[in-house]
Amino acid sequence: MHYHPRPAWAIPEHEATPESVFFNRRAFLKGSLGAAAGGVVGVGSTLTATAEAADKEAPKDQTLDMYPAKRNPAFTLDRPLTNAEEAAKFNNFYEFGPVKTISLLAQRLNTRPWTVKVHGLVNKPKTFDIDDLIRSMPLEERLYRFRCVEAWAMAVPWTGFPLAELIKRVEPASEAKYIKMTTFVDRSVALNQLRFWYPWPYTEALTIEEGMNELTLLATGIYGKPMPKQHGAPIRLVVPWKYGFKNIKSIVAIEFVKERPKTFWEELGPNEYGFWANVNPNFSHPRWSQAEERMLGTDEKRATLIFNGYETWVASMYPDLKNRLYFM
Ligand code: MTE
Repeated sequence: MHYHPRPAWAIPEHEATPESVFFNRRAFLKGSLGAAAGGVVGVGSTLTATAEAADKEAPKDQTLDMYPAKRNPAFTLDRPLTNAEEAAKFNNFYEFGPVKTISLLAQRLNTRPWTVKVHGLVNKPKTFDIDDLIRSMPLEERLYRFRCVEAWAMAVPWTGFPLAELIKRVEPASEAKYIKMTTFVDRSVALNQLRFWYPWPYTEALTIEEGMNELTLLATGIYGKPMPKQHGAPIRLVVPWKYGFKNIKSIVAIEFVKERPKTFWEELGPNEYGFWANVNPNFSHPRWSQAEERMLGTDEKRATLIFNGYETWVASMYPDLKNRLYFM
């Protein structure tokens, strides 16, 4: 996002730990970077080797045989699919840095073992092992448009299961009104989490009604394969009628709450990245128009569609449309 908050008292970039120290292999493996703050600027072969070594020791994904999943024909596209490599090298994953080129850094993330704690105002709270969770769900492939608030867009085949399936399993209590989702915190792996002026962990939230919507997916794969780390392995949210920042990656907890939670981006820029974040070509971002979007890979310009083209599925959730398309 075009937002790099840094309070006046934060240390300047040139005083930060040098890159060679920052990417020290031992420090990576032992997670002993402590409170050092550093510049997340560039990667090298040491980093790749370290990521590979860490991967060899980690337990393996037990769901590989589930991909590719059967495509659900109900969801079709009005544009070509984005090239998989283009989508995999242009990402937003602030835990690894405030730039688009985090795909190599994101390989630091260990996605097994992994658990997702589902808790809060529910009758049946449970901490799921990721492989048990995926194996117990009806995986399917869906072709969806995806629109970032920064006005780039893509069209991708996600693999996943409806969030509604998980909601039903834990039986929300009647007082539960919102679903808050949280990403991992691991400062030894996700170096931008050392920048303490960001409100880590990354969180996002939906109303229960939005969570139950047929479109809302928990995605575990893309392009017919398990989710690459830079796209938010092992499990991320996909809500295609909302701007990309609602689509929280690498989820470790899902909590059912009464009050509307303040999310990561809302805390950083409430006037720019509001809670509702429904795609709307007629409502400009304070710093740029949302009327058009640029497709990743081809740079083709397209007119932005209201609710990103998903009006039929979602418009009934927003009867006071005027207020809820963007901020609130
Ligand atoms: N989730 C986490 N945990 N951290 C992030 O920085 N960025 C969001 C969203 N989910 C983000 C996140 C934003 S701004 C976008 S546009 C999408 O992820 C990008 O998803 P992609 O990189 O898979 O295309």
